[in-house]
Amino acid sequence: MKIAPFNASEAFIQDFHDSRPGGTSSALGSLRFQYDDHEWSSTYQLLIRSVPEMPWGRVLDLACGDGHLLSMLRQHLPESWGLYGLDFSSGELRRALEVSDNSTHYVQGMAQGLPYADESFDTVLCHMAFMLMENQPEVLKEIARVLKPGGTFSAIVGGAPSATAIQQCFVNCIRELPRNPDYAEVRFSRSNHDPDRLQTLIKAEFNEVSATNLTIPLTLTPEEAWQWFSGMYDLSTRLVEDLNQVRAHFISQLEDKVHNHILTFHFFHAVKNGS
Ligand SMILES: C[S@@+](CC[C@H](N)C(=O)[O-])C[C@H]1O[C@@H](n2cnc3c(N)ncnc32)[C@H](O)[C@@H]1O
Repeated sequence: MKIAPFNASEAFIQDFHDSRPGGTSSALGSLRFQYDDHEWSSTYQLLIRSVPEMPWGRVLDLACGDGHLLSMLRQHLPESWGLYGLDFSSGELRRALEVSDNSTHYVQGMAQGLPYADESFDTVLCHMAFMLMENQPEVLKEIARVLKPGGTFSAIVGGAPSATAIQQCFVNCIRELPRNPDYAEVRFSRSNHDPDRLQTLIKAEFNEVSATNLTIPLTLTPEEAWQWFSGMYDLSTRLVEDLNQVRAHFISQLEDKVHNHILTFHFFHAVKNGS
C-alpha cells in the first residue's frame, strides 16, 4: 500500500525502500567502530544503549525500515517492554514482518503525523532516517507529543559526505548520467544533516540535549567501494541504461588500489521536559 508522501523527495525515498528493502541494515548492521574507549558492534548498538534501564516500558523505532533495530531490542530488553515500529515504506515493513516474532507492533505511517496517543512512549529511537524527513520541526513536535514526560529521544543521523577521493570519483561518475525525469524534483537538503541546525531544532522541543560526532574510517577495494556507493540514493535518481558500464567506469577510476573513506554520523540524545 502507498501512503501519500510529503513531497517529491519523500516519494522517491518511499519508492526506493519499497523496491530495495533491507539495504540500510545490510550496509550498517555489522559496521564496527571505536568510540568513547569502547568497541561498538554497530551504530544500532549506540541507540540500544541509550534506552533507559527500566523493567518495562514502550519504545518506538521511528522509520524502522526492515526492523533490524527492533529485532536487536527484542534480544536486549525484558519481554515486558512493548516494541513499536513505524515506517512509510510497505516494502520495508513487509520485510520486518517476515522476521518478526509477532510481539512487535508495526504500522505504516508518516513521521510528520504519528498514529499514537499523547505520552504513550518511554523512548523514541531513530536510526539513519531523521535527515531524510521533510518538515523536521513538525516531526520533533510529534516525537515530543508521543513521549511521556521525562521520556527520551535518541537518533543516529547520517553526516554530510566526506570529501574523499572515492567520494569524488563517485560524484564524477554520477554527474555524467542523465537525471531520471520521474525524479526531477528530488532534492537532498544538506541542512537536514547539519548537526548545529539539528541540535537547535531538538532544543526547541527537549531539554538536556547532547550531540556527539562519530567518524568511522573505512578502507575499501574498488569493488567494495562500488558495493557501498551503488546502494545509495543518488544513483537511483539517474537514468542508467547499463549499470555494468557505470560500475566498470567507477572501478577503473579507482585504479585497482585500496582507498580510505570516512563515514560521519551524529548521535543525538534528548530528554523531554517534566520528569
Ligand atoms: C535509511 S533507511 C533506515 C531504516 C532503519 N531505521 C535502519 O536504520 O535500518 C530510512 C527509512 O526511513 C523511512 N522514512 C523516511 N522518511 C519517512 C517519513 N517521513 N515517515 C516515515 N518513514 C520515513 C524510509 O522508508 C526508510 O525505511
